[in-house]
Amino acid sequence: MCGIVAYIGDEKAGPILFDTLKRLEYRGYDSAGVAVKSDGAIEVIKSAGRIADLEKVYMALGSPGESMGIGHTRWATHGRPSDRNAHPHTSGEVAIVHNGIIENYLDLRELLTEMGYEFQSETDSEVLAHLINFYYQGDLLSAVSRALERVEGSYAIAVLAASSPYLVCARKDSPLVLGRGEGATYVASDVPALLPYTKDVIRMKDGEIACVYDDRVELRDLAGVPHAAEVERITWDADAAERGGYPHFMLKEIHEQPRAIRETIAGRISEINGDVRLPLGMSDEETASLERVTIIACGTSYHAGMLARYLFARAAGLPVDVEVASEFQHLQVRPKTLLLGITQSGETADTLMALKKAKTCCMRSLAITNVVGSTVTELVNATIYTRCGPEIGVAATKTFTSQLVALILLAVRLGRARGHLTPDQARKMLIELTKLPGLVQRVLEKREEIREIAEAYADAGCYFFIGRDYLYPISLEGALKMKEIAYIPSEGYAGGELKHGPLALITDNTPVVALATCGRKIQSNIKEVRARGADVIALASEGDPDIGKVASVVIELPETRPVFSAVLCTVVVQLLAYYTANKLGLPIDKPRNLAKCVTVE
Ligand code: M6R
Repeated sequence: MCGIVAYIGDEKAGPILFDTLKRLEYRGYDSAGVAVKSDGAIEVIKSAGRIADLEKVYMALGSPGESMGIGHTRWATHGRPSDRNAHPHTSGEVAIVHNGIIENYLDLRELLTEMGYEFQSETDSEVLAHLINFYYQGDLLSAVSRALERVEGSYAIAVLAASSPYLVCARKDSPLVLGRGEGATYVASDVPALLPYTKDVIRMKDGEIACVYDDRVELRDLAGVPHAAEVERITWDADAAERGGYPHFMLKEIHEQPRAIRETIAGRISEINGDVRLPLGMSDEETASLERVTIIACGTSYHAGMLARYLFARAAGLPVDVEVASEFQHLQVRPKTLLLGITQSGETADTLMALKKAKTCCMRSLAITNVVGSTVTELVNATIYTRCGPEIGVAATKTFTSQLVALILLAVRLGRARGHLTPDQARKMLIELTKLPGLVQRVLEKREEIREIAEAYADAGCYFFIGRDYLYPISLEGALKMKEIAYIPSEGYAGGELKHGPLALITDNTPVVALATCGRKIQSNIKEVRARGADVIALASEGDPDIGKVASVVIELPETRPVFSAVLCTVVVQLLAYYTANKLGLPIDKPRNLAKCVTVE
């Protein structure tokens, strides 16, 4: 997730671009840049670091440029944060800013290199600048349309050419909003950036391309068929707008999960080979010789690691040890072990210290993280990015479900390299995985039902979450979310463990959330707690004939593979915790005593 902006009007573009970029900083902040039209040429100012620092450089240069420009604030997905990887990217007299992922960029890069184009960055986005330049012969709209026909993936782009009297914008699977003002048109990834300038916005639709002038916008599809522009009057205040109209970042981030999962999968599946493209930093022979995996993580990331224990054993025949990072010092790693660190921030001190200690005795090390260039990436042989964009709420939501998806992709790659999965088995699983974002969307549509249940139990003295198999880690995650933001003492338990002690805590004021989409054994645990007076909120697959007979309330979820249903159950437990905390009037995005990133041991 990055932020892009553009301006064309009768004022100097630079100050407006910086002002709008600062309002998009929540979308990314590792590097920034602007390109402005100046004396018939394009001037680009960009660097790694915060927007405010870049703005000082711009002012020190005498605030160059006229009344037309584009800007970008980056959240790296391809290539670490650096001056060269910062946008805008240029080619000849063309400059572009891009938000999204160009999936076929390696093929395009090879082709353009053969044609003589020299690449300055490691980004996927730079191919767009060269492709547009290749087609540009004075008609920017036609050049951008032809370039986009060659591109697979997601994009929101703004394009500037020194000799073009208008800007071009286009979108597919990444947001882009045009704002119409008096004698000026503003462009941004999201509404908040535009509100100080105009409340009249046009939300571009997928597949649309726009010629942007100071006094009008002309919308078309890529085939050139004109579209009518629907102008919407925004009524939110600026604060709510930054959260996309959601009352809290956590709720916004919960709703971003279909997109986050899609981006985590993007460009990584090869249906033809029934395999996954992932940088493991080792050959298939080395992968086949692995004897086990040791996973190190904290908190929610640790729960993702726990799910991998079941997954890697089944898909790749690999036993897994999962260690809480702060306890790792007491353990030994065996040889022929793959070490895997999971950390959304890439900066958690406990995880970094444990990885440093363990990596010397492991065969290879990997990280799964959301932050390109974070410290963890320097400690390991290879990194798998989850590509969620920044997560602002302290409670991990979209970063967790994307970690689960990254682990599923990794399990398939390991399984294929080790000959544990056939291409056909892998292909079937991967095709189903591509449907997961749509299933998550269907769960999100149940939010009102989940809100009513959460509010009905908001005064509970204690909550239990139970699950078996893939759903045991999700029961732990449900309990962590409930503790973290609703401050309700909560326990996550493997269903079969209840009778070994915790059953003593069950009363009629202890709601039990039973994750019941994986197998039927959990039903006996439901009966055990019902017999002790507890209400049971069961999460079950649609059409389960028996669950209604044993549970007090049933939330039906789309039927899918057990491991994918872990993602669907996660969304429900996130919403349950969210609506409980909301009913209790708690500070959801910044719960007491907690920090988003824990950089002390
Ligand atoms: O950045 P990390 O994934 O390494 O963070 C680990 C934990 O601090 C984190 O998951 C924490 O448990 C979350 N606040 C839970 O919502």
